[in-house]
Amino acid sequence: MSPHLTALLGLVLCLAQTIHTQEGALPRPSISAEPGTVIPPGSHVTFVCRGPVGVQTFRLEREDRAKYKDTNNVSQASPSESEARFHIDSVSEGNAGLYRCIYSKAPAWSEHSDFLELLVKETSGGPDSPDTELGSSAGTVPGTEASGFDAP
Ligand SMILES: *[C@@H]1O[C@H](CO)[C@@H](O)[C@H](O)[C@H]1NC(C)=O
Repeated sequence: MSPHLTALLGLVLCLAQTIHTQEGALPRPSISAEPGTVIPPGSHVTFVCRGPVGVQTFRLEREDRAKYKDTNNVSQASPSESEARFHIDSVSEGNAGLYRCIYSKAPAWSEHSDFLELLVKETSGGPDSPDTELGSSAGTVPGTEASGFDAP
């Protein structure tokens, strides 16, 4: 084998390794809710999933994974981020619970985002609810909470 061929082979192997590594390292998506995570019954809420550019499909999953919504309507949130929005016009008690995002960037699916908890109740209840703080912090501090949920 000529030295040139050996070098070329080495380069190809190195490249393949790089591509493989990148596939395994899709950044985790983030999830947030607008206008917030505590929504009075009958009001609207929008879940926002964010990921890197080049995402084809965003999926919003319920806690049990049996219920989910996919969208290919992906828009550019910033030069390095894409996002999709999932709108609920009128929330009811049945919409309360844990939500998380995942996305597909061919040929792979990403890991899940943190869970975000939607609470359906009147927001005039005052500042004495610990649930309120828990729910909103899940959206603003991605990656710091709920790492235990990642176990397969
Ligand atoms: C796609 O998303 C944008 C921004 O979230 C929204 O304004 C638009 O109505 C959506 N289009 C469709 C076909 O749902």
